Amino acid sequence: MDKLLVHGGSTLRGSVNISGSKNASLPIIAAALLTDEDVIIRRVPDVSDTNYMVQILNALGAEVERSSGTIRATCAEISDTAPYELVRRMRASICVMGPLLARKGRAVVSLPGGCIIGDRPVDLHLKGLQALGAQVEFEGGNIILTAPKGLKGAELDLRGTSGPTVLGTDNVMMAATLAEGTTVIESAAAEPEVIDLANFLNAMGAKITGAGTRRIVIEGVAKLHGVEHTVIPDRIEAGTFMVAAALAGEGVTLRRVCREHLKAITAAIEASGHSVSFNEAGDACTVHRGTDLKGVDLVTAPYPGYPTDMQAQMTALLATTPGISVIKDTIFPQRFMHCAELKRMGADIKVDNGTAIVRGTEKLSAAPVMASDLRASAALVLAALTATGTTEINRLYHIDRGYEHIDEKLLLLGANVERVRV
Ligand code: UD1
Repeated sequence: MDKLLVHGGSTLRGSVNISGSKNASLPIIAAALLTDEDVIIRRVPDVSDTNYMVQILNALGAEVERSSGTIRATCAEISDTAPYELVRRMRASICVMGPLLARKGRAVVSLPGGCIIGDRPVDLHLKGLQALGAQVEFEGGNIILTAPKGLKGAELDLRGTSGPTVLGTDNVMMAATLAEGTTVIESAAAEPEVIDLANFLNAMGAKITGAGTRRIVIEGVAKLHGVEHTVIPDRIEAGTFMVAAALAGEGVTLRRVCREHLKAITAAIEASGHSVSFNEAGDACTVHRGTDLKGVDLVTAPYPGYPTDMQAQMTALLATTPGISVIKDTIFPQRFMHCAELKRMGADIKVDNGTAIVRGTEKLSAAPVMASDLRASAALVLAALTATGTTEINRLYHIDRGYEHIDEKLLLLGANVERVRV
């Protein structure tokens, strides 16, 4: 189990390339199951979550090759049962359900367990697939979906109590591409990753309109074909480096980003007193640490709102920003595990009922801390950049799930970090 030592106090300078999006890659790799032809996906980040997805495809019978960010998958003969041993490692494995059901008329996927950021139900995924005619049974911890006579287009609403569902929208959209007739998804998720998946599916011959809005219309087709696709930049990795630059930088430039996807994150960083300037093309930005800093109020919300996946990192920034900040997570109200660790580093944070109240302190100090989930671990790395002393971040596998070579990228920018193989 690797750990990361961060020797605080270095100044970050220079530029960093942002990788392809992990959250866009996962459903796109799963969507390769929808065709028996070759699929080539570029800019897939080399992180353990994408590796798990590749292993799941392999276990289903696909042939997958991977080199330098490019995946070639051929799903000629596939089975309908995703193995528990792999599925249990990553909640996002659930997005093989829609493609398997559409292609095979049957899908067996383990029911995902709870996770550290809260109870994560899949009722909306199932509701959507049932509306397309699937029958759902539960047996031995598995969800078994069957549609022996194929799926039929339908009008359905995917709104849950916490708003739309990203992977639920993906699952239903993928299944509907091969259904008979037209499907209308109301209250769909509008995240850029959903648009990227829809673009990928359309390039395979699907007929999807409205991705990126709350109403997606899918006209079913008989067959999908092979495709080549380049994944969009990872807006959460970009946001994480924007926070690093605001905390410890002296003009850090991020390349291969998408300005449009970063609006809410940019607004939050600017509101706390830092400056963010994009080039004309909107694919690179430079962050300058501000001098007149202030606390901000943040509420996470579905896209285009402020992303829950950037809540922990922003909390780390605000922990040393003068004034009081109030951060409410409406999507995952229990997602505040990082706060207990930040407090061990001297942060003044009170968490109550899905809201963190942060009183900015001047400086944090190093401590051994425990990563609890992907974004929480990123927050600890960020906090450690300016803390006094050496912070030891344990359970680094959490961060390796979703950040490509984060230690190397930080080193290139001038941070003093060391990965220790234990
Ligand atoms: C995706 C992202 C994850 C991000 C989350 C919210 C991927 C691989 N993961 O996860 O990083 O934090 O979106 O932006 O893209 N819900 C239900 N019933 C369901 C499904 C979800 O009630 O069937 C609830 C969830 O508990 C949560 C909210 O809906 O409160 C949003 O979750 P959802 O968008 O589904 O998250 P994921 O797609 O799993």
